Amino acid sequence: MSRVDLAELDFFSPEVQECPFSVYQQLQDEAPVWQMPGTNVFVVTRYNDIREIIRDPARFSSSFSALLNAGSSNEDVTAIYEQGYEMVETLLTQDPPRHRVYRNLVNKVFSNKRIEGMRGDIQAIADQLIDEWIDDGEVDLLNRLCVPLPIYVIADQLGVPRSELALLKKWSDASTSRLGRLADEEQQIQNAKDIVEFQHYFADLIDRMRDQPEDNIISDLANNTIDEGRLLTKPEALGMIQQILVAGNETSTNAIAGGVVLLIENLEEQAKLRANPDLIPTAVEEILRLETPTSGMWRRATEDTEIDGVAIPEGSFLMVRFAAGNRDESVFPCAGAMQVDRENADNHMAFGQGTHFCLGAQLARTELQIAMTTLLRRTDNWALVEGKNSLKHHPNVLLRGLMDLHISFDKVA
Ligand code: HEM
Repeated sequence: MSRVDLAELDFFSPEVQECPFSVYQQLQDEAPVWQMPGTNVFVVTRYNDIREIIRDPARFSSSFSALLNAGSSNEDVTAIYEQGYEMVETLLTQDPPRHRVYRNLVNKVFSNKRIEGMRGDIQAIADQLIDEWIDDGEVDLLNRLCVPLPIYVIADQLGVPRSELALLKKWSDASTSRLGRLADEEQQIQNAKDIVEFQHYFADLIDRMRDQPEDNIISDLANNTIDEGRLLTKPEALGMIQQILVAGNETSTNAIAGGVVLLIENLEEQAKLRANPDLIPTAVEEILRLETPTSGMWRRATEDTEIDGVAIPEGSFLMVRFAAGNRDESVFPCAGAMQVDRENADNHMAFGQGTHFCLGAQLARTELQIAMTTLLRRTDNWALVEGKNSLKHHPNVLLRGLMDLHISFDKVA
């Protein structure tokens, strides 16, 4: 493993983010709570340290939206955002006890029981998408399955027509790019336009659902009450919708695509799955562990404190690197290797833990299980198409996802 000079390391650079695994291991070995030189940011890479931090919201707050939504220095960008709605803290960036008020509103919608009831619909979407290219022998799998599957599922739940897929994808990409903090100025302007367009679209939909309620998430958010009987404000409702939309498709897309590449690179593991489909739920956990589509998240120290013997001053930011924790050898032996029957695969932290444990974990697991089961059942002899796969990832400090995925395959008779 090539070692880097930690005093010179630019952790969030696109180069490091493209291939971060040796850096994660070096940090775990040499500086598991590592202060980025010249900043008040600490990168935390060991499983148990991350666990301690995310399970202690009083000491480590999630109120980091100022960091996520840090205004651009570009006046054009600021002027565009002024035409939209302000960002308010609801789920991801809200702390207990207030967090619970918003979380309770959406917990029911994403309950295990309700997700179980969606299995048939998700299976029908997967089969319908695969039907479109099953006779072609080659497919742009990213855009013909991995992207549309979660978007159709979430569009149905939100009550948005599936014909709006391109819009939903565009809005979701803009939010992701904004969170990722690596966009250039031209991209920041486009992101701002897209996000404001998203806000106005859903603000209108909220009004319509208040006039004529329907059975979908937007209608629930539009009409359920909090704080002794008041409706959500538009910024509150929009903030929640945006999080469900973004968290709900980008990450699942990335997990399906990354999972297929892992199975192409690990043919023996793929053969085990084909021979024994009962292993698919464990294989999905192993894919989530190795891919960790949400590579990391922020926390803010609310007091002078310490982690693993390292002093953390009040106000410091911590980057809890789930992707590194998921490759901690002390928890997952041979951590870099894919084992579809790994006994403790589901101890991974790809969905976080504690207060902010992923709202959509059960939905994502179900989508992944169905996508993998159906692909393995209906297609065989997968291979990456030469010349069409960069195997590069979108530049983003929080989310990790492939830019392209073209595979060839045989249809199973
Ligand atoms: C493979 C897919 C997914 C991954 C890897 C993932 C990952 C995560 C992680 C790591 C967190 C915790 C962040 C923290 O601790 O600060 C989280 C929270 C969240 N996720 Fe997911 N997620 C996925 C799918 C989904 C889906 C399908 C939805 C919704 C439909 C969703 C909605 C959310 C929301 C709303 C939160 C914030 C919860 C809160 O703060 O109470 N996610 N997700």
